[in-house]
Amino acid sequence: MKATHLECSLCGKRREANAPANLCECGGPLLVRYDLDVIRHRWRRREVSNGPASMWRYAPVLPASAESIVTLGEGWTPLLRTRRLGARIGAENLWVKDEGLNPTGSFKARGLSCAISMCKELGIRRVAIPSAGNAASALAAYAAAAGLEAHIFMPKDVPQANFLECMAYGAHVTLVDGLISDCGRIVAERGPAEGWFDISTLKEPYRIEGKKTMGYEVAEQMDWELPDAIFYPTGGGVGLIGMWKAFAEMEKLGWIGGRRPKMIAVQAEGCQPVVRAFEENQQRSTFYDGAHTVAAGLRVPKPLGDFLVLQGVRESGGTAIAVSDDEMLEAGVQLASDEGVYAAPEGAACVAAAEKLIANGFLKPTDRIVLYNTGSGLKYPEAYSTRFPRTAASEQDKLGGLITPR
Ligand SMILES: Cc1ncc(COP(=O)(O)O)c(C=O)c1O
Ligand SMILES: [Zn+2]
Repeated sequence: MKATHLECSLCGKRREANAPANLCECGGPLLVRYDLDVIRHRWRRREVSNGPASMWRYAPVLPASAESIVTLGEGWTPLLRTRRLGARIGAENLWVKDEGLNPTGSFKARGLSCAISMCKELGIRRVAIPSAGNAASALAAYAAAAGLEAHIFMPKDVPQANFLECMAYGAHVTLVDGLISDCGRIVAERGPAEGWFDISTLKEPYRIEGKKTMGYEVAEQMDWELPDAIFYPTGGGVGLIGMWKAFAEMEKLGWIGGRRPKMIAVQAEGCQPVVRAFEENQQRSTFYDGAHTVAAGLRVPKPLGDFLVLQGVRESGGTAIAVSDDEMLEAGVQLASDEGVYAAPEGAACVAAAEKLIANGFLKPTDRIVLYNTGSGLKYPEAYSTRFPRTAASEQDKLGGLITPR
């Protein structure tokens, strides 16, 4: 264990770092703290590139010790400069951070690699998670790699790919007639009696540590010069909170200055609690009734860390913006055909949002802009099929396939 302590993000209370922990008694998420003054003298920016080509190149600011690390090669994903898309939407300096290349096809691999490594370190054997889909796939994979027992609760209309993956990885899967918030309630209710460690986003302190490496990476890949704006598809918002934490840590390490990108939280029109709270100048969001969107990861009606997301967005001079499902899928197809990157609808939402914020003048055409594609489009056949309907498979077979040659 390399952290010095855990600190409550709400009341500031400190607690020991080397014991299993969920929320603070006050309900606040706990954040991991390190002695960055010591680390800055032992670990220089120029030494980072000696590390592995994964997020564990930042191991000195991650909590797990070397023996505990459970890795499948997560992180160190490509940051691609767009060739045609930027010109189309009027952005001269547009980049895509492609998280679809992670194990299990989404950035969730980062958080769960770190969280499962810490389970190993702390002797936790049984874990449970409520998930919109991709976090479940990642948990199932890392639990399998670590030999842990995983219990997964997902909405019953979760994308089929996520369901199949979880089953294949050998997790115990329950499909719930409800949203991720209902799944979270079941885990909270049943967990203690079943002996499950609750690995819900922000209810344990380590997933965010994995996700923050997206912030370290974008800095390193841009030669330690942060971009002007970062677009992040916000469900729970943990990626954004994590990157914001990473920037503060890097400044304390002396790696970057005080300048920050505008943090832009992108949500779906059918589920936009953070956008609403931002526009109404609230510190916290309220439960978003009737949440619906094809971007399963954005279907989070009341993020636990809403106040941290809103804080990051406001302090950075950023904004929060919603796009429709149609706009997302349209943008996804545009990104794929312009750049060869097939994005999850969540990632594609950033393309649609960037187009709007350039058109309305919030961003300048010369700004250096990074869009986070948080997952692979390959996991969303149901959503993209609405754009490209085809004849049923049985029909295809009849047209000269191997099964029924004519
Ligand atoms: C592909 C994808 N993008 C974005 C998100 C939202 O993540 P966060 O909780 O960091 O806001 C999710 C969450 O499920 C997701 O699966
Ligand atoms: Zn507290």
